Amino acid sequence: MVAGDRPAVGAGPARLARTIAVASGKGGVGKSTVALGIAMAAAERGVRTVLVDADLGMANLDIMAGVRSAHSAADWLGGRVTLAECFVAVAPRMWLLGGASGLARMADLSPAQRQRLVEGLSRVASHVDLMVLDLGAGIGAGTLELAGAADRVLMVTTPEPTALTDAYGFMKACVRGGRRAGWNVACSMATDAADGARAVERLRRAVARHLEVDMHDAGSVPDDSSVRRAVRAGRPLLAAEPASPAARAIRRIEGSLAGLPEPSARPDLFSALAARLGVRVAGAMAAAMGGAAITGASMPR
Ligand SMILES: Nc1ncnc2c1ncn2[C@@H]1O[C@H](COP(=O)(O)OP(=O)(O)OP(=O)(O)O)[C@@H](O)[C@H]1O
Ligand SMILES: [Mg+2]
Repeated sequence: MVAGDRPAVGAGPARLARTIAVASGKGGVGKSTVALGIAMAAAERGVRTVLVDADLGMANLDIMAGVRSAHSAADWLGGRVTLAECFVAVAPRMWLLGGASGLARMADLSPAQRQRLVEGLSRVASHVDLMVLDLGAGIGAGTLELAGAADRVLMVTTPEPTALTDAYGFMKACVRGGRRAGWNVACSMATDAADGARAVERLRRAVARHLEVDMHDAGSVPDDSSVRRAVRAGRPLLAAEPASPAARAIRRIEGSLAGLPEPSARPDLFSALAARLGVRVAGAMAAAMGGAAITGASMPR
């Protein structure tokens, strides 16, 4: 194994990674572009980051990231490969876990798979600093569950009224499910900064008034042909065109999120999933908190 191609496991007690779910109501709004971008931006700053492709429909982050993994999280959940074999390095300090749609349909998993999912992900989270979950569009039950349980949610919308309305609908469902804090919004494909700011403000005002929820304005990404070029070339935007307006904007969004105060105390994503799925966490959490089982040299098996 090449050094650095897996998140290394440090000895000693570990703390679970921060989790951020990137969500949208409408599809095709630039969610994966932003998720991949903020993961790369964080890694550039030295934050060890795992990007999880949790889209129930089309898992295509690997294509956007320009990597190919022989195995996906689906193979791991099926018991065919180890979790370590499913990770692929995208950049220094950044890994992708592809095909993790099992997360979005966790209610359908067998008890053994549920156990595996929660244990595996919590172990991963003890080896990195940040986990970015790219969720599928829409209000599927599993998607809402993940958005409800992550430390933070980043809603991605465009300035179009359809995207804003669907973002509002997603948030309404999630707030009803109990999520009130940790909301952020970024506007993608904005004509300019003012256009993005207006769209963000519209959504912020609507959710403040009707859902009584505060939302952090994380910024906007301009409509930029460099994004389309990078997607077509199968390369991450921040690597392909690091100085493009969109890449710079995405770095600012990541910086804005990183500068936020720690989220208020709430159960971490993994404990929340365990509770939801009826998985006993004693073993998983003990391991995740730095038990002897994970002081090896690579990702946990
Ligand atoms: N800032 C941008 N400027 C120009 N084009 C963009 C921008 N962001 C995204 N796009 C274009 O929109 C397409 C869809 O973007 P992306 O895959 O990030 O959206 P998504 O919300 O993840 O979609 P899905 O809901 O299908 O997962 C990209 O392939 C790209 O061509
Ligand atoms: Mg996507």
